[in-house]
Amino acid sequence: MSKKTVRDIDLKGKKVFVRCDFNVPMDENQNITDNRRIVSALPTIKYLIEQNCKIILCSHLGRPKGEVKPEFSLAPVAKELSKLLGQEVLMAKDVIGESAKSLASSLKEGQVMLLENVRFHKEETDNNPEFAKELASMAEVFVNDAFGTAHRAHASTEGVSHYLPSVSGFLIEKELKFLGDALNNPERPFVAILGGAKVSDKIGVIDSLLEKVDTLMIGGGMAYTFFKAQGYGVGNSLCEPDKCELALSLMEKAKNKGVKLILPVDTKIGKEFKPDTESKTVAWTEIPDGWEGFDIGEKTIEMFKNELKNAKTVIWNGPVGLFEFDQFAIGTNEIAKALAELDATTIIGGGDSAAAVEKAGLADKMTHISTGGGASLEFLEGKKLPGIECLQDK
Ligand code: 3PG
Repeated sequence: MSKKTVRDIDLKGKKVFVRCDFNVPMDENQNITDNRRIVSALPTIKYLIEQNCKIILCSHLGRPKGEVKPEFSLAPVAKELSKLLGQEVLMAKDVIGESAKSLASSLKEGQVMLLENVRFHKEETDNNPEFAKELASMAEVFVNDAFGTAHRAHASTEGVSHYLPSVSGFLIEKELKFLGDALNNPERPFVAILGGAKVSDKIGVIDSLLEKVDTLMIGGGMAYTFFKAQGYGVGNSLCEPDKCELALSLMEKAKNKGVKLILPVDTKIGKEFKPDTESKTVAWTEIPDGWEGFDIGEKTIEMFKNELKNAKTVIWNGPVGLFEFDQFAIGTNEIAKALAELDATTIIGGGDSAAAVEKAGLADKMTHISTGGGASLEFLEGKKLPGIECLQDK
């Protein structure tokens, strides 16, 4: 069932509590190093300004675990947002204290304020009803636009919905449209590329995608568990021996479903976990002891690219190599380039794959880059997201 959005209710002049996901990366001096999540929140905030709303923004940043820690302050976000909006975003010194409440009650139409990091209170992650009620008491409507946090049932993502009429913002609407359409109504061939370190992190998503896709390509650290499962040595590569059985059963499931499951045929290996370590490319069956697999090899890159050529819908979640080190970023960059050139719907799951596409300078060539890491993964697994379930149905 689709959810009501800000377009579906009368918001004119109302005081609105908007949950965003401003959990952005910062360097040691609290400079924002990637503002994509802030930029993605702009359409909803601008719309609410046009509706003359009094806007109270709320977000978490990092995991301060219920303590006030200055390094987790959202003040740099207020600054960045002021710049992007071209109007001042008032920064509260607290979340439900004197500063937040007096700012909220004196807001004028079209004004925007930001609460301090909601995770400075442990009641946030506990989804404490009293705390949620306090948050809700500042406003008349709840707008959830924090897709990246929609898999968390926290006070500001789910709890407040028990006290206020609740709808989604444009970002959640957009994420549901792209991820949902791709999953439920994909133009075929539908290809998924899954990478990342561990099979155990991706079991749910592999299992669920095997029901939907025509082709599933696996790269990254995960691939070595599949190699091991077939009886080959993997040297010091990432591997979960206790997941070998599972890897074999996923291969079996793919076969039964008629899904083409493609594993790497070669791998670039290194001596040590260092950017400039000695490296070479070997067949997947020939990883020597003492070496560690860090990327897919050239033959695999060609094979993956070939498979992608005819794809009409592609979902990519997780880098296929250790893309933080240049010499092992080749596979991930080549996949990004191949996707950029496709005449297809290309959807990038958030987190590391989004960072890899950004790093390759190809973000604007993709159809959609999700702002959710964990949230997009859970969505692809077919799980219900509490921050979305709690909103009013259309
Ligand atoms: C994310 O970055 O994935 C979201 O902001 C959620 O953060 P969390 O994993 O700390 O809940």
